[in-house]
Amino acid sequence: MRHYRYLLSTLLLIVTSACAAPAPTDGFYTIDPSRSNGGTGRFYMDREISDVMGHLAADWLERPQRTHEEMPDEVVANMGLKPTDVVADIGAGSGYFTIRIARQVPQGSVLAVDIQPEMLEILENRRREEGLDNISGVLGEIDDTHLPANSVDVAFLVDAYHEFSHPREMLQSIYDSLKPGGHLILVEYRAEDPNVPIRTLHKMTQRQVRREMSVLNFEWEKTLDFLPWQHMMFFTKPE
Ligand SMILES: C[S@@+](CC[C@H](N)C(=O)[O-])C[C@H]1O[C@@H](n2cnc3c(N)ncnc32)[C@H](O)[C@@H]1O
Repeated sequence: MRHYRYLLSTLLLIVTSACAAPAPTDGFYTIDPSRSNGGTGRFYMDREISDVMGHLAADWLERPQRTHEEMPDEVVANMGLKPTDVVADIGAGSGYFTIRIARQVPQGSVLAVDIQPEMLEILENRRREEGLDNISGVLGEIDDTHLPANSVDVAFLVDAYHEFSHPREMLQSIYDSLKPGGHLILVEYRAEDPNVPIRTLHKMTQRQVRREMSVLNFEWEKTLDFLPWQHMMFFTKPE
């Protein structure tokens, strides 16, 4: 009888621990979204993936105070762009950065990738208003940028990577689209800093970013910390 009770309690322990911490497969696991703290319930490398910001909130991306909260002109000035560069702005949204980058690459181009056609429509209207002819919208999928292989000098992601429902596949797609020696620049809200007034799931630590990038063989080059709320992190695809 005692033996039977021991077996039963061991079995119960195994079942409860399996429910509390689901075994990750390829770094992914999911929990019931109702147990999530406002996220998707989908985890990648121990980070919960956030919801995607819908196009109805596009005005928030264009809020006037963003110029001092996120210093977009200074960010673009620090990208190290050449006038002939091909830049992919991935998760471009309304084109807040796309427009600024396009002005810095007059002999190059910007490929603005997003999964929401409505965002690309907003961006296209802005492109026309600004009279810029070196921007092309690219409708991607949740796991594929639809960018041609070995075609991009700089892949640029602002406040977007933490929303990708398929981060590993997206990174593979970005990696493939970059020319050898090409750069990936990631701007994310600092999770290390509790004073950054952004919801937790929309922030990332440097450590976590570097961990996730290393899966694809991206080499960390440097991090710039001049922004009030964000890290600006540079990675390279090896030659
Ligand atoms: C918070 S917005 C940031 C937009 C822009 N980068 C900015 O800083 O103004 C994130 C954008 O990423 C897009 N997005 C989410 N998942 C994506 C994916 N797998 N591929 C491309 N874009 C994606 C969303 O549709 C949304 O427009």
